[in-house]
Amino acid sequence: MSSIQLGSDGALRHLLTLEGLARERLTALLDTADAFRESHERGVKAMPILRGRTLVGLFFEPSTRTRVSFEIAARKLSADVVHFDIAQSSTRKGESVHDTLATLAALGCDLFVVRHQTAGTAAHLAERLPEGCALINAGDGEHAHPTQGLLDALTIRQRKGGFAGLKVAIVGDIRHSRVARSDVHALLALGVEEIRLCGPPQLLPEVAPAGCRVEPSADRAVAGADVVIALRLQKERMEAGLVPSEDEYFRDFGIDARRLALAAPDAILMHPGPINRGVEIASEVADGPQSVILEQVRNGVFVRMAVMAHLAGAR
Ligand code: NCD
Repeated sequence: MSSIQLGSDGALRHLLTLEGLARERLTALLDTADAFRESHERGVKAMPILRGRTLVGLFFEPSTRTRVSFEIAARKLSADVVHFDIAQSSTRKGESVHDTLATLAALGCDLFVVRHQTAGTAAHLAERLPEGCALINAGDGEHAHPTQGLLDALTIRQRKGGFAGLKVAIVGDIRHSRVARSDVHALLALGVEEIRLCGPPQLLPEVAPAGCRVEPSADRAVAGADVVIALRLQKERMEAGLVPSEDEYFRDFGIDARRLALAAPDAILMHPGPINRGVEIASEVADGPQSVILEQVRNGVFVRMAVMAHLAGAR
C-alpha cells in the first residue's frame, strides 16, 4: 500500500497509512504542522498554498473533528471546499464509490478526503485516481487513520518535547481501532521507548504488533506511563455481545482519577474522540488538568494543513 502513496521520486502523492513512513518524513510533517500553528498564532489567517485546488470529503462513516478540521485546514490554505453529503448523493441510486470519485474528479475536484468502513478502500480509490489528484485516508475500517496518528504524535511532541524514553499506554478497544494502529506506526518510527496495549482479551490484537507489549491489566499498563491514550469501544465494528457491560468495562479498563494517578505525575491523557464519558473515560479526568483532548483536536487542523501542503509540494 505504501508504494501507492509515494511517487518514484519518493514524494508523498497520497496519504493512506503511516506504516512504512520514515522518521524523517514524519518529523518533517510535524515540523510543518508546528510552523502552521506558529503562523496561526501570529495572526496569519490564510496562505495561498492550495489556491486553485478543490477539496471534497467523502465520508461514508460519521465524523465531526476529522471532517471539520480538514475543511478548516483546506480553507486556511486557500483551497475551494465542496460540500458533499454521501447520504444524499447518487450512491443511494447504486453508483459505485469509484464512479462517484471519477465524477467528482471530472468536475474538477483534485483533493479527496475519504472515510470508509472497509479497510483498504482509500488505497483502492487512490490507485484509480487521475494524475494530479491526491487522496487522504480519513479512516478506513479497522486499518488506518494516518492524520490522527500524526496529530497524536504532534500533541505528544509539544507536551513532552520529543519521543525518546517515553512510555505510552493505549487502553481500550485495540483490535478494532485504526487510531491505535496509526499511533503505533507513528510512535515506534519516532522512537518512543515502550508502547503498552491494554484491553479485554477479546479486544486485543491476536498478535501483538512488533515493538508493543500486550498488558491485560489496565492498572499495570498505566503505571508509570508518560502518555495514556484511551480509546472508544468501536461497537460498529463488533459482533454484538463482545463487551459484557459498560459498567464492568469502565471498572476494568476505564480511565478515572484513581487509575490515572498510577501514571507518571506529569502524564498526559489523550483520546481521539468522540469520548463516551463513563465508559472508557471519566469526566473528572477528561476535563481535568492532564487532559490534552482538545489540544489534539486543535492540532488536527495544523497536521491536516501540513499533509495537504506536502501533497501539493509533491506535484
Ligand atoms: C476516530 C475514528 O473515526 O477512527 N475518531 C476520530 O477520527 N477522531 C476514533 C473513534 O471513532 O473512536
